[in-house]
Amino acid sequence: MADNILDRFKENTETVTVDTSRKVRVGIIGTGWIAEAHMISYLKQPDVEIVAGADLIEGKAEAFFAGFNMPEVKCYRSHKEMLDDESLQLDAVSVCTYNRTHAECAIYALNKGVNVLLEKPMCVTVEEAAEIVKAEKASGKVLSIGFQPRLDENMKMIKKIVESGKLGKVYYIQTGGGRRHGIPTPYGTSFIEDKTAGIGALGDIGCYSLDMVLNAIGYPKPLTVSGYKSNFFGTRPDRYPTHPEYAEKFTVDDFAAAFIRLEGGIILDFRIAWDMHLDTPGDTIIMGTEGSLRIPSTECWNGSVGGAMTLYHDICGEPTQTTVPIIDSGFDDLFDKKIRSFLDAIKNGTPAPVPSSQIIYNQAIIDGIFKSAEAGREIEVVIPEC
Ligand SMILES: NC(=O)c1ccc[n+]([C@@H]2O[C@H](COP(=O)([O-])OP(=O)(O)OC[C@H]3O[C@@H](n4cnc5c(N)ncnc54)[C@H](O)[C@@H]3O)[C@@H](O)[C@H]2O)c1
Repeated sequence: MADNILDRFKENTETVTVDTSRKVRVGIIGTGWIAEAHMISYLKQPDVEIVAGADLIEGKAEAFFAGFNMPEVKCYRSHKEMLDDESLQLDAVSVCTYNRTHAECAIYALNKGVNVLLEKPMCVTVEEAAEIVKAEKASGKVLSIGFQPRLDENMKMIKKIVESGKLGKVYYIQTGGGRRHGIPTPYGTSFIEDKTAGIGALGDIGCYSLDMVLNAIGYPKPLTVSGYKSNFFGTRPDRYPTHPEYAEKFTVDDFAAAFIRLEGGIILDFRIAWDMHLDTPGDTIIMGTEGSLRIPSTECWNGSVGGAMTLYHDICGEPTQTTVPIIDSGFDDLFDKKIRSFLDAIKNGTPAPVPSSQIIYNQAIIDGIFKSAEAGREIEVVIPEC
């Protein structure tokens, strides 16, 4: 007899067999902090061969692969050098460079007919994003953007709740969050200098909070943005006890806020901070005509759900609250899912798991915040033809 009859109704979570007869030949562009997470996940896949890597800094790619005990991987001094070497027969690249070179690396790879997993944020400006989409369309290759938090089961639950109609028509969203002291400089200044990062807290963690809610509601087009950004903390030497000189290099935003109008009459109220005198500027809330959802913030604000969510609704006219418990997906690694879903899209000819057609709106909002903050007024979002 079956152990438990209810087990028959459980979702089938059996491991899908991967076709190992066809190996995907992968190159890594930019061998810094996040490239390591890509490598660890690629190495778990039975159908991947890491054949090349590139970094602008002399010896960095060689040291990186030596750390994985893989001296056979061919190393190059730039994305161009690597992609120009046709003998590599690359199928795919991970673009793990700082934000300022995302566009040039992704476009160059797509033009060479190579599939691209591009780290978040997509790039720096909406104009660059449109150029990337053009190259993607011309190439017919897979381009997926590295938003792994949306692959988390709790994130998926937010989308399921919205799609179930339990909230009715969504009309107002508040999202974003921040850290009390959390300017990221563990490996130097590539996150805080305009010449490498281009965007600060907005590009590092702001894009995640935008993706959390926009993905849930089907990524409506942004229409107007009234944005603000500042850098009161990143420019203070006391923020870097061991490297006070970083304060002078700080040339991006450490706080941003915006009021965004989306297609469909939805208002998006947003704020993000790398540093502030506050525990959190608020939870994420999605308000609808039939119910509202509260998604607790986290201390680190890296795009995850901070605790059990609450659904506020009426039952027979009585205000009621339902707790949506946190789903524990065990040791499920979101990076593994990000890499696997990219490889599956390449091998099966299926759409990109995190498509540029959505993320260009994420980039358009970030870009809109910059343009509006500089103009000192609300601006209309203009997305270049692509
Ligand atoms: N998805 C995530 O969870 C996550 C986490 C951290 C960082 N990131 C993103 O990953 C990107 C990289 O972050 P990081 O912390 O690894 O940065 P990093 O500064 O540690 O590494 C970037 C590397 O890219 C190299 N590089 C730049 N342009 C290049 C080019 N044209 N060709 C070859 N190499 C080039 C640099 O020399 C540097 O070594 C950023 O865009 C960041 O937002 C994503």
